[in-house]
Amino acid sequence: SVPEKFILHGSLQPVVGVVGQDVVLPFQLSPPARLANKGVLWRKIGTEFILVHEYSDEGPKDQPGEGYQNRTEMFPQEFSRGNVSLKLKRLQEADAGTYHCYVSDPDWSQEATTDLRIAAVAPVFIEVLGPQGQGIGLACRSTGWFPKPELQWVGKNRQNLTMDPVTYMTEGGDNLYSVESQVTVTEGNDTGEISCIVRNGLLETERQSTIQLSGDVFPRVSPWLAAFWALLALVLVAAGVCAYLGCTGKQKVSQKKRAEEEA
Ligand SMILES: *[C@@H]1O[C@H](CO)[C@@H](O)[C@H](O)[C@H]1NC(C)=O
Repeated sequence: SVPEKFILHGSLQPVVGVVGQDVVLPFQLSPPARLANKGVLWRKIGTEFILVHEYSDEGPKDQPGEGYQNRTEMFPQEFSRGNVSLKLKRLQEADAGTYHCYVSDPDWSQEATTDLRIAAVAPVFIEVLGPQGQGIGLACRSTGWFPKPELQWVGKNRQNLTMDPVTYMTEGGDNLYSVESQVTVTEGNDTGEISCIVRNGLLETERQSTIQLSGDVFPRVSPWLAAFWALLALVLVAAGVCAYLGCTGKQKVSQKKRAEEEA
């Protein structure tokens, strides 16, 4: 007979799959017991329930939903252990989502969900932000990663760079991550080829973008220009001093005049 408190568990953590590979969506009944005349429905939650696979003791019936032919496998030999997991084969990007499992017998039913995420990589772009202080600001952006990627700026032959990047990671409503990183490259050690590499540790795959920074692009102060600015500053200071002195001189004059008038 069926115990009163029979619970179906999905996975608390999302299951992560890779396009083209298989994944098991875990569902476990506890305590494990063999149900007589049970039915199991695996569905995907979209705008409505989409049938993925269906099983029934009565019949017996074991069939995939429309669009899932040859892509599902259940494990009847595991049912006696309460394991009602479903294997989804040859994953597609569109398989990401929430899966719902419904187990029932004539006088009992339980349901649970498991989230499936699909590992993803995306193109990487470098943008030149323009002069920033003594250097050139660069931004690296990429949108559409799962799980969280790692971002790295490197020089030619993957040399580490001396500058410190500022990196932000955000998660979108589609459960995919966006990453953005900014650095200011100064002329010197870091001049030349600079790459931004974004890496998916799960897939062991990376995408990158490379930019060539020649010495000409850096803001530069020529000795003549420096001399010009120094001279201009001197002239301005001198002009200011003269104006001030001149003005007080006039004031003195006018005060003198006023004093004479009063006298
Ligand atoms: C359930 O069975 C499948 C297939 O044998 C297996 O991959 C999975 O690990 C099992 N789950 C548990 C919780 O034992």
